[in-house]
Amino acid sequence: MSATPDRKARLTPQDIRARKGAVPIVCLTAYTTPVARQVDQACDLVLVGDSVGMVLHGLPSTLGVTMEMMVMHGQAVARGLDHACMVVDMPFGSYEESPAQAFRNAARLMAETGCHAVKLEGGRHMAQTVAFLVERGIPVMGHVGLTPQAVNALGGYKVQGRGDDGERILADAVALAAAGAFSVVLEKIPAELGARITQEIAIPTIGIGAGADCDGQVLVIDDVLGLFTDFRPKFVKRYAELGRDSEAAVAAYAADVRARRFPDPDHSFSAQGSRA
Ligand code: KIV
Repeated sequence: MSATPDRKARLTPQDIRARKGAVPIVCLTAYTTPVARQVDQACDLVLVGDSVGMVLHGLPSTLGVTMEMMVMHGQAVARGLDHACMVVDMPFGSYEESPAQAFRNAARLMAETGCHAVKLEGGRHMAQTVAFLVERGIPVMGHVGLTPQAVNALGGYKVQGRGDDGERILADAVALAAAGAFSVVLEKIPAELGARITQEIAIPTIGIGAGADCDGQVLVIDDVLGLFTDFRPKFVKRYAELGRDSEAAVAAYAADVRARRFPDPDHSFSAQGSRA
């Protein structure tokens, strides 16, 4: 889609990097074209998160997400964006083995989806890989704190970085910034630690359950829209109750069909009518 005067210009990873300490960066996930169209103009960043595995595919964790899934959802989201900077998650097992493996898969994500950057999880142990990608023209967003791909090693989806453990997460964020990441997601850490990391590193921090002082915020779109009636993590604020509304809509449709109230004449064709 070509840019028109009333639509905002495309944002790049460099634009996001330059927003450090300025107006907060707005980020949501998207996995499909229609949702990408809905969030595009309001967001600075759109993340095709590997949360897609749990949100859309019903997987128990993000560990089963594949490159093929990320490519397919990345392509769908790209068709719906013309403003927001688009980042695609590297799935578990696609980058940890070596910088060369990470480059091969990151290059595939960029070539096949048209995304502007990739995101990968991990701190100091991933810094060499991040530098390898950045030096070869791939903008990278880091992700520290609760890293869902490490759920088995972390023993669940618990808050990270309480007490002395905060130093570990700070050191991870510092290492990613030094390696050339253009921004870093801070997930599920104390607000005070989110503020401290934001102060100490020169790249934007994008928080999810990391307090109000980060340079930006990200949430999963389905959580913002209240699509899950039974999932209410503390760090999510719902701005709609679409799950409840759609359950009610489906129940009303089922009742109408069973009572033969639907279709009524307004939703039926007559032999003489002109409407297609
Ligand atoms: O996969 C994802 O959606 C994410 C964000 C929630 C940060 O990594």
